[in-house]
Amino acid sequence: MEPYQPLNRSIAGLTAIVTGAASGMGRATAHLFAAEGANVAVTDLKQEACDAVAAEIREAGHPGQALALALDVSDESRIKDVVSLTAAQFEGLDIVVNNAGFAIPADVGEESYEESWGPSLDVMLSSHQRMIRAALPFLRQSESPRIVNVASTEGLGATPGNSPYVAAKHGVIGLTRGLAVDLGREGITVNCICPGPILTGITAAIPDEHKEIYAKRRVPMRRYGIPEEVANVTLSVVLPAASFLTGAVIPVDGGLTIKNA
Ligand code: NAI
Repeated sequence: MEPYQPLNRSIAGLTAIVTGAASGMGRATAHLFAAEGANVAVTDLKQEACDAVAAEIREAGHPGQALALALDVSDESRIKDVVSLTAAQFEGLDIVVNNAGFAIPADVGEESYEESWGPSLDVMLSSHQRMIRAALPFLRQSESPRIVNVASTEGLGATPGNSPYVAAKHGVIGLTRGLAVDLGREGITVNCICPGPILTGITAAIPDEHKEIYAKRRVPMRRYGIPEEVANVTLSVVLPAASFLTGAVIPVDGGLTIKNA
């Protein structure tokens, strides 16, 4: 019998880029990765917001280092710069977490629909492939290359008045599966997390009583999740030991998507 192989369950010393890392799930992911000893590029729209999270990470005494870099993911040339700066600072790049996003309602009968469609598809879908393509030369040098795309349960179904977001998130699942097939032979894994309702910036404006009614009606666990619960699933997916998991679409939703009634 072959000897048991423990495989490596640590990301210590690896380097990750997390987009949208100034808030919510991105921030929790940056903290967790740094706590696990990874170096993290904390990227988001505003430099000061990235600086603040990098300072939190330093103050928390996490073993991994944080590099704060402003990045609007709709800016393709800045994506390339951020990838190069990160790889230069930490001598490589192993993990990409495409997380940045926002939600704006869109009524298909209104002229303003296009104002939601373009940015939604750009920020929450096109930017993912742009980041992945920019990172690819570095991921190809990594011994444990991992890509995680944050989609949503809106990638598996749809709530009303939200169709550009729904379309972008369904697209993220398609992109994940397509690239998992293309990159599998190189050992680069591409997986997708589908959070359900999570307490973050995106859901902050929903009144608490509405959240409670929704959670009790729709979520078997009868509550919203917290960003750290999603970040820990993301961590599991990027471990070196998660080397045969690719193209997976993983709901982190308290059971939302499996509940019929
Ligand atoms: P959040 O609002 O707390 O964090 C999102 C971050 O993305 C913000 O810091 C924001 O500045 C940043 N961002 C927005 N546009 C950007 C751009 N063009 N370039 C760079 N950064 C940008 O919200 P949350 O919930 O943590 O969002 C993270 C991801 O999770 C998003 O992709 C969202 O669609 C997804 N998601 C959230 C759910 C929830 O219930 N909170 C459920 C399912 C998916």
